[in-house]
Amino acid sequence: MAAAASWGSCLCVHTVIFAWYVFTITKNCSLNTDAPGVKTYGGRWKYLTFLDLVLQCVFFGLCVFIDIVHLILPAKGVPSLLVKIRDKIFTILAFPLAAFVFSSFWSLYNYDRELVYPKYLDDIIPVWLNHAMHTTILPLVLVQMYIQNHKYGGRIKSIIGLALFAFLYLSGVLWVHYVSDIWVYPIMAKLSPVGLGLFFGIAALTMAPLYLLGEKLSRKIWASAEEKEEVRLGWRVS
Ligand SMILES: *[C@@H]1O[C@H](CO)[C@@H](O)[C@H](O)[C@H]1NC(C)=O
Repeated sequence: MAAAASWGSCLCVHTVIFAWYVFTITKNCSLNTDAPGVKTYGGRWKYLTFLDLVLQCVFFGLCVFIDIVHLILPAKGVPSLLVKIRDKIFTILAFPLAAFVFSSFWSLYNYDRELVYPKYLDDIIPVWLNHAMHTTILPLVLVQMYIQNHKYGGRIKSIIGLALFAFLYLSGVLWVHYVSDIWVYPIMAKLSPVGLGLFFGIAALTMAPLYLLGEKLSRKIWASAEEKEEVRLGWRVS
């Protein structure tokens, strides 16, 4: 289906997305809201949504940097290490996290929005900003998947990497509760210890399928391009 976009057009797309994230994060931090939790222990950093925004921003910043290097040094090419780092961040973290934040936020929101995004926030946080934090993150990683082919690494290793992130994040959530008695998400205050264990377990378990989903989608999008490449390189002899 897809064919690699030129570095110049990638640079355009990446710059726009990067600027969008810088703008979103600036707005998130500058809007003076009385949203609960932002001023308490750990600040915004205890929210997965915010960590995801920062991650996406850094990721697209890296993409911009790689595009520029490529345009300045076409002959030498981009150091492969940079591309490798880009692909690792995208496949292991950026795609699964965007898909996770999107799906967990909107499914909880539809179930009972008071659990994740109480109604009064509508008066404080503009709708577009809510969508920037929870909705557009997904189409934007899909755009990225479509314009560039990312190399997926070994499944076990990648899923362990993602699980490590989930583990660190959940440890952080428990740590915040331990130190300050706050639950990062209101829903956690309502769960029994067993319920909480299940909640964490389910959250962690949905991560691996999201990683695999990314791999599958990417394969699908790039299958024909890869085939052509193989033919061009003469790998398909028959
Ligand atoms: C900014 O992001 C944090 C973390 O996701 C959220 O709690 C807060 O309500 C957001 N504030 C605004 C103004 O978007």
